[in-house]
Amino acid sequence: MERNSELSKFYKKGHDERVETLAEYADLTEDEQQLLKQLKGLDFAQADRMIENVYGVMPLPLGIATHFRVNGKDYLVPMALEEPSVVAAASNAAKMARTSGGFKASSTEPLMIAQIQLVKLKDAEAARKAVMAHKQELVELADKVFPSMKQFGGGAKDLDARVIETVRGKQLIVHLIVDVRDAMGANSINSMAEGLAPRLEQLTGGKVLLRIISNLAVHRLFRSETVWTKEALAESVKEQGLKGEEVVEAILDAWAFGAADPFRGTTHNKGIMNGIDAVTLATGNDFRAVEAGAHSYAALKGAALTAYKLNADGDIEGKILLPLAVGTVGGSMKANPTAAMCLKIIGARTSGELAQVMAAVGLAQNFAALRAMASEGIQKGHMRLHARHIATAAGAKPEEVDELVAQMQADNAINEMGAKKALDEIRGGKKVHKT
Ligand code: MEV
Repeated sequence: MERNSELSKFYKKGHDERVETLAEYADLTEDEQQLLKQLKGLDFAQADRMIENVYGVMPLPLGIATHFRVNGKDYLVPMALEEPSVVAAASNAAKMARTSGGFKASSTEPLMIAQIQLVKLKDAEAARKAVMAHKQELVELADKVFPSMKQFGGGAKDLDARVIETVRGKQLIVHLIVDVRDAMGANSINSMAEGLAPRLEQLTGGKVLLRIISNLAVHRLFRSETVWTKEALAESVKEQGLKGEEVVEAILDAWAFGAADPFRGTTHNKGIMNGIDAVTLATGNDFRAVEAGAHSYAALKGAALTAYKLNADGDIEGKILLPLAVGTVGGSMKANPTAAMCLKIIGARTSGELAQVMAAVGLAQNFAALRAMASEGIQKGHMRLHARHIATAAGAKPEEVDELVAQMQADNAINEMGAKKALDEIRGGKKVHKT
């Protein structure tokens, strides 16, 4: 059955009903449903196999972003993070994008770079030439020392070498380019790089030092784009009495700031990564690798990872381009049943499909932040959620939260003391504010 990501009023359902909705959508097993219902992602033995000195687990809420449609296919997107508003904002931007057909996305092949550093060279340039003269042999050797990538349809594809000037003299840096298919790829390409070391030392007379992945994955790029129509935008700001055209202009100005200024560009990209990191975490991928790659790519290319322009119809065309080294197979996904279950919910058949969805999430997240800041002021939304957290922390029962938040707002006292005072008043029947 074709999936439909237009879940409405999900937040109004109880926990069990939310799990059952997802179970039906993604055909989750009874065990997977129990995993979600019991809010226990990992037992001690599972956690202890992952890292050292384990003494507990660190829980994070897992939310579902709705309404995503990418290349004509619907996706519900699991997101793990602690920050309020992110899931709702992504869903909202995805919903608005649906009016123009959703997101288009594309990608390069999943090519990763392994770096091999050669030092103590008598003649660095001669060493470079010697390596390049044996390029084909070295590429084939990489597949021999680590054959499984080729067996899965990928494998070593290319090799390059360049001399760099360092404070410690000239070094020769060899890049081995490997198609890692559906893996993140770090382990395999590190093994290939290690396997090439003896032959590289033979060819150059130098000494191999580092043999390690580069997280600046410039050959594993993902692009996504969409159109947000002025009508969809107008609808979203109607309540605030704003016009669609005004918001379009304000969004373009807000983006231009980020594209021109690295201080703003960093925050602009942080907003993109709010969404991408949350999916990276939910799917058991290496969010540090994704972060490192995205921010370095931004530094390499300019400030902002997204771009917006007005089209001939007066709508906003948005696009994103960034490297995303994520996998759908590998140890961490197998070791963590929640990650495996989240991958099942996304329903991506390949790492490329997963990353295309992630690129769309990053674009949606960025657009939502720009729209919010450019129109209503993001702080207002944050304060509303902040007030809900304070209300809960002050001991309000779920059915008391709305009233307490309204009372704190009326008292202009959105803080712990204000919450306690207002809660006492509400419980004592002395409330002054009606919701
Ligand atoms: C907050 O987590 C993210 C934003 O700061 C992003 C942005 O400013 O574009 C709202």
